[in-house]
Amino acid sequence: MKEWTREERYRVLQSAEEIRPLYESIRNSVYRQRYHVQPVTGLSSDPNGFALHKGTWHLCYQWCPWGAVHGLKYWYHVTSPDLVHWQNAGIGLKPDCFYDNRGTHSGSAISQGDDLVFFYTGNHRDDDWVRTPYTCAAVLDAEGKLQKLPEPLFGPRDDHSEHQRDPKVVWNAEKRKYYIFIGAQTLDLRGCVLIYESEELLKGWRFAGELKVPGYERFGGMWECPYIVNISGRDVLIFSPQYTKLPGRGNSTNHNVYLIGRMDYDTLTFTPEGDYHHLDYGFDFYAAQGAASIGDPDRAILIAWIGLPDNHYPTQEEDWEGTLSLPRELRVRGGKLVQTPIPAVESLREAEIPADGALPAACELEVTAPEGDFALNLFTKADGTGGLRLRYDSAARVCTVDRTGMDRRFNESVGEVLDMPLEAPLRKLRVFIDRCSTEIFANDGEATFTTRTYPTEREFHYAASDDVRVRVWPMRASVTDEFVI
Ligand code: FRU
Repeated sequence: MKEWTREERYRVLQSAEEIRPLYESIRNSVYRQRYHVQPVTGLSSDPNGFALHKGTWHLCYQWCPWGAVHGLKYWYHVTSPDLVHWQNAGIGLKPDCFYDNRGTHSGSAISQGDDLVFFYTGNHRDDDWVRTPYTCAAVLDAEGKLQKLPEPLFGPRDDHSEHQRDPKVVWNAEKRKYYIFIGAQTLDLRGCVLIYESEELLKGWRFAGELKVPGYERFGGMWECPYIVNISGRDVLIFSPQYTKLPGRGNSTNHNVYLIGRMDYDTLTFTPEGDYHHLDYGFDFYAAQGAASIGDPDRAILIAWIGLPDNHYPTQEEDWEGTLSLPRELRVRGGKLVQTPIPAVESLREAEIPADGALPAACELEVTAPEGDFALNLFTKADGTGGLRLRYDSAARVCTVDRTGMDRRFNESVGEVLDMPLEAPLRKLRVFIDRCSTEIFANDGEATFTTRTYPTEREFHYAASDDVRVRVWPMRASVTDEFVI
C-alpha cells in the first residue's frame, strides 16, 4: 500500500488536470457506486452542509482529492432535486487561506430567505503542526458557488483542547437566536459540546457555555459532528463519540449514537429521557448529519459516511475510497428513532426479477420472514457458501451479521461480527445493495445495519432459509460520475 508523506497528503490542488488521470483510472472500477454519493476522486468521508434551499438539496462531503488518504480536506459539492439523483457541482470549499491552511473541516448549513449559509471548521496548523480550529462561514452565490467570509466567526477556546470543530447551526424561534453546537474535548480529554449564540447569522457570535448532558459527563474522549433536531416535539441529539469502546461494538473506538430528550436553552442542558442508542448497528456508519431547513416538524432527513475514522477499505488499492449512505427519514416512536429509506428511492427500482438466488450488483431486496429463527446469506458463492451472513435468533431477538465469509476481508481487527438487537420479532428487511455498500433496514425502520461490502466476481448470489420470501429489484444509476472540479 502506498505510504504517503505529509507533503503529499497536504498538497494543495492547483489545477483539475492534476487529478484527471486518477478520475480516469477509477471511473471504471467495479466498486463505483450507482446510486450513492461517492468521491469524484480520492477519499470522501463526512457529509457536510446538508440543506434544502429553494427547492434544491445541497450536500457536500469531506474530500481529499489525492487518493485513499485522510489528508488536506476540501468540501466537494453535490446537488439534487429529489435526494435520489445527484449531480457533481465541483469544489465547495477549498483550503486556501491562513485560517484553513490544513483543511476545510466538517460543518453544516442553514437556509434563510434568499441565503444559504454554510458553517465549517477552518483547520489551521502552524509550522510545528500545532492546530488552531476556527469557526468560519460561507454563503452560496448566484452562480451556486460557496463564497467564504474573509474572517472566521470565532476562534477556539483555550479552556478546551485543540479538538473544537464541526459547527452545527440551529435557529431557536422562542429565543429568537441562532445557536452553534461545536464538537469538542475538555482539557482532561472528555468529549463534550460547546455552544455559541448570536442574533445574526454572520456576526455577533458569543460563547454561551458547555452543553450539560446529565449522565454523559464521561462518555468518550471527543464528540465529533454534533447534530440536534426537534422531531414531533422531542429533541434528538446525535453525535459521534470517539476514543472509547462501547458494549457490543467489537473493538471499534468510533461510534455514532443518539439521545432523545429535552434541550433547555436557558440552562444549556440536554436532559436525556433514557439511555443512548446506536444510530446504526453496522460496521461502517459515522458522522451522520441531518438536512437543515426541510420545513417538516415531524421528521428529519439524515445522511452519514459509510466508513469509520482510522479504517481503510479495499479500494485503497485503486487510490480511492468512501461513500455516503442513502438519505433516510427519521421519526420518533416511543423512546427511539424509526429510520426509513426516503420514499423516492423506490423510483430507482427497475422491473422486479425472479428471486432465483442471483444478486445484481446494485439492487434492493425485500425480505419477509415467518415467525422464528432464520438465516439470510448475501454475496454467497453459487453453492450458497460464504458471504455476508445474517442469522436471526428469535428467542434473543437479535440479528447477528458476520462478514468473515466474504472473499475480501478488511478492518478485521475492529471486528467482523456485530449484533443488531431488536424489540419486535424480526419479520421484514429492506436491503439496499450498491457496488460497495449494503444498508439493511429492519422491521420498517426499528433498527438499521450499514456496512461496506466488496464482493468478488463469484459472490453475486444469495441464499435464505426456507419460508423466507425474497423480492429483488435491480436499481437504476442515479449519481452522475462526471469530472467536475
Ligand atoms: C469526523 C471528522 C470531523 C472533522 C473531519 C475532518 O470524521 O474527524 O470531526 O471535521 O472529520 O475530515
